[in-house]
Amino acid sequence: MLSGKNLLLIISGGIAAYKVLEVIRRLRDRGMMIRAVLTEGGAQFVTPLSVAALTENRVYQDLFSLTDEAEMGHIRLSREADLVLVAPASADLIARMASGMANDLATTALLATNKPVLIAPAMNVEMWNHAATRANIATLESRGVMRIGPASGDLACGEFGSGRLSEPADIIAAVTDFFTARTAAKPLAGKRAIVTSGPTHEPIDPVRYIANRSSGKQGHAIAVALAAAGAEVTLISGPVALPDPSGMAVRHVETAREMMVAVQDSLPADIAVCAAAVADWRVASSAGQKLKKDESGQMPDLRFAENPDILAALGAPGPNRPALVIGFAAETENLLAHARAKLVRKGCDWILANDVTAESGTFGGDHNQIHLIRQDRPQDDDVWPRQDKKAVADHLVAQIIAHFAGTKP
Ligand code: PMT
Repeated sequence: MLSGKNLLLIISGGIAAYKVLEVIRRLRDRGMMIRAVLTEGGAQFVTPLSVAALTENRVYQDLFSLTDEAEMGHIRLSREADLVLVAPASADLIARMASGMANDLATTALLATNKPVLIAPAMNVEMWNHAATRANIATLESRGVMRIGPASGDLACGEFGSGRLSEPADIIAAVTDFFTARTAAKPLAGKRAIVTSGPTHEPIDPVRYIANRSSGKQGHAIAVALAAAGAEVTLISGPVALPDPSGMAVRHVETAREMMVAVQDSLPADIAVCAAAVADWRVASSAGQKLKKDESGQMPDLRFAENPDILAALGAPGPNRPALVIGFAAETENLLAHARAKLVRKGCDWILANDVTAESGTFGGDHNQIHLIRQDRPQDDDVWPRQDKKAVADHLVAQIIAHFAGTKP
């Protein structure tokens, strides 16, 4: 599986860098060709000589080296690989990747590459749990960067928790899995998918709007997972802070009515997944000028109108109905009963019921707890474990693949 494959290995600073020497040795044993970039931090922990000896290749360290550029420019270095592995990926390198910096050879190659990237983070547990690192990881994953670890256990700093570099055997398994999955036929190749994601903003006046707490994390993760399975994806996103995922068409909308138009424009499709938190109502006639507070103490008279229901329109019978229409039911009470009613009312094939009470943290958070209810056996809800939104997306796409293959996942 690995023989003849090209790996660009980026080694950043961290005590765990020594484990990477073992990774190199075992990947070379399997016939992989490895070029290594050693960051300044990485070179504090392993020597260029040991990396060169094990990779049987020269080691690249300097962005501005004339010899390196003449032999192999940093663009070629990043493009000739089949996979880019960053191990260990320090908190600093992860932050620089997330913000798109290119201030050394490693980050320049990572910014210039159009190849898949797998990171193996390693750092102190508090650094790993820090909100900044969580946000950086979420950003990278939303761009399709893959991750192995970190593992949990004793850390070199004397503390205990998540932050250990994954064991060499696990990193090698992740690299092997990547090539195995890539060579397997893309199970959704030839299928078109529409995914709605994020909130809608419904204007009150030119400066105010009605919105909700949806971040788009769940919908975007589903779009990424569908694209990874080979589907041709159109992601229709409300206003979110996430970057556009690569490998798909992305349409940006603000309001429910704009989302409806974008969805209709994107038909026909085989699969539709409505993960967006679409406002049910809009202000019937939003003001052309900013509403002014005057001395009368009178409140503005806001009247509401119902927004079009995008999921119900997709689920309605007709020549353009996608073969598989999937909705979410975001509920704060009577989860399953309300979800079953929504499944029928909106004509969808599957509904993913999720508890969105404030305590669940689902809206805007990183996790989701799903009950999958199918139209052909509505009493038989399939309870998924509470998992992060990428895992939910992968789980859903596995079910979609099985549905089209006529097998059980
Ligand atoms: O974006 P995140 O922060 O990651 O959070 C994810 C999520 C909680 C938003 C997502 O998991 C989710 O539950 N999305 C649906 C939210 C919602 O609006 O649910 P609902 O029960 O109000 O609507 C039911 C279904 O109808 C949904 O599929 C919704 O997309 C769809 N709908 C609703 C109203 C409308 N006018 N048009 C629609 O298509």
